[in-house]
Amino acid sequence: MADVEQAVLSALAADGEIADSWAFSVAKGIDHQAIIGVQKSLLGDAYTCEENLSCTLWTLTDEGLEFANNGSPEFRVYQSVCAAGGDGMDMTALQEALGEVCKIGLGPCMKNKWLAKNGEKVQVVGKDVIDDTAVMLQDVREGKLSSEKDLANLKRRKLVNQIVRKSIKITKGPNFRDKRVKKMADLTKEMLDNGNWGELEFKSVNLKAMGAPVTGGGYHPLLKVRAEFRRILMEMGFEEMPTNKWVESSFWNFDSLFQPQSHPARDAHDTFFMKGECGVTRQLPEDYYEKVRNIHENGGYESIGYGCNFKRDEATKNLLRTHTTAISAQMLYKLANQKGGFTPKKYFSIDRVFRNEAMDATHLCEFHQVEGLVADRNLTLGNLIGTIKTFFEKIGITQLRFKPAYNPYTEPSMEIFGYHPELKKWTEIGNSGMFRPEMLRPMGLPEDVRVIAWGLSLERPTMIKYRIENIRDLFGHKADILAQKNAPIARF
Ligand code: PHE
Repeated sequence: MADVEQAVLSALAADGEIADSWAFSVAKGIDHQAIIGVQKSLLGDAYTCEENLSCTLWTLTDEGLEFANNGSPEFRVYQSVCAAGGDGMDMTALQEALGEVCKIGLGPCMKNKWLAKNGEKVQVVGKDVIDDTAVMLQDVREGKLSSEKDLANLKRRKLVNQIVRKSIKITKGPNFRDKRVKKMADLTKEMLDNGNWGELEFKSVNLKAMGAPVTGGGYHPLLKVRAEFRRILMEMGFEEMPTNKWVESSFWNFDSLFQPQSHPARDAHDTFFMKGECGVTRQLPEDYYEKVRNIHENGGYESIGYGCNFKRDEATKNLLRTHTTAISAQMLYKLANQKGGFTPKKYFSIDRVFRNEAMDATHLCEFHQVEGLVADRNLTLGNLIGTIKTFFEKIGITQLRFKPAYNPYTEPSMEIFGYHPELKKWTEIGNSGMFRPEMLRPMGLPEDVRVIAWGLSLERPTMIKYRIENIRDLFGHKADILAQKNAPIARF
């Protein structure tokens, strides 16, 4: 390629132009396509300019070429009979000697009156016969035949073809030089070291080029399972709650849920509290705060409350939310106070929560909580069990057991146990209950509105699904990124 490029540049330097790339390729014995390739590259750097040329010309077909080289069939038949001398040749002998050529050529010989039949013999009658066809074909080959009539005739006999030949005229471009200076793609350390970067030319950067496809990245198994849970919950008619904040006030995380201020979960050993300026919440809904304080201190709605001294300092402490139920509380409060009053709703969320726990093979101090709730009039425990059954059935857990439990904010409360067909054992898979009137009524929800709710971790089903035994292999700095990337999508 470099040779071809130099040949083109030298020709331009010497003659100012290459009038026809085709003639140039023939003269130099270079493949025409190679010249075109080099020219495109030179044109790109404005070393050259080009003009398109095209000409129609006649070429010989394979058969035409054969006639031009060996004579036309009629002439070869005539020659054979001439060569036999005497009083001509036997028809059969002629056929045997020439075969196909005889079949094609004998007819025209007769018609041209070069030969004639005499009984079984074929005899010479024409004198000074010339093989016009072969001569014309040779002329075509040399580009000398111009008679339209003759050319049309040869074309009809399928001896010639007309083709359009495209070529180009090459002239000097604005950046012409008689030697190609290679443009550098990158500025390298070596160029800087030996100081020659100033003399070099650099390729311009194509800012419109498509970037290389990004092959890195991949969804984490937790996100794969989350996508599937989200799909299932949406399918069941649940709307996703906005959980995109990790810091909550103790008020929303605990107090609004009727969790007493003296509850051990509110200890720094169980909860991460925020320090310094972020440690205290600035805004609480004051009306509602009063109602919450009142239910804690004095009770109401048939509850005796905690009879405690409700402390604002405790309520305003900021923390990393210990459950997404803090969001559920805010959503229910909104639902109670929206324009037009309460409307039935189904909500879910799947997001991070934080607990200050000792870490082991199955516990970290953060996990993802899947939370669901249904708020409607006159719901019963049967509705809760039915909803939970439907959800777990969709993730492949069909055998469920419920065990009475205690949560400060639900009554009744049930732990959910599922029989895992792959692990062949009953395991605790979640917690659930009906939110207490002490939580719902201060929000302003009508008396007949019941809220059924449940929560579970996303990590547990993910570990079972992907057969991960240690949570550190799933989450955190010890997790194998490649294995995570290659984990298949989750389907339940
Ligand atoms: N908040 C509970 C937990 O952290 C889960 C739950 C949600 C329980 C809703 C009952 C009702 O385990």
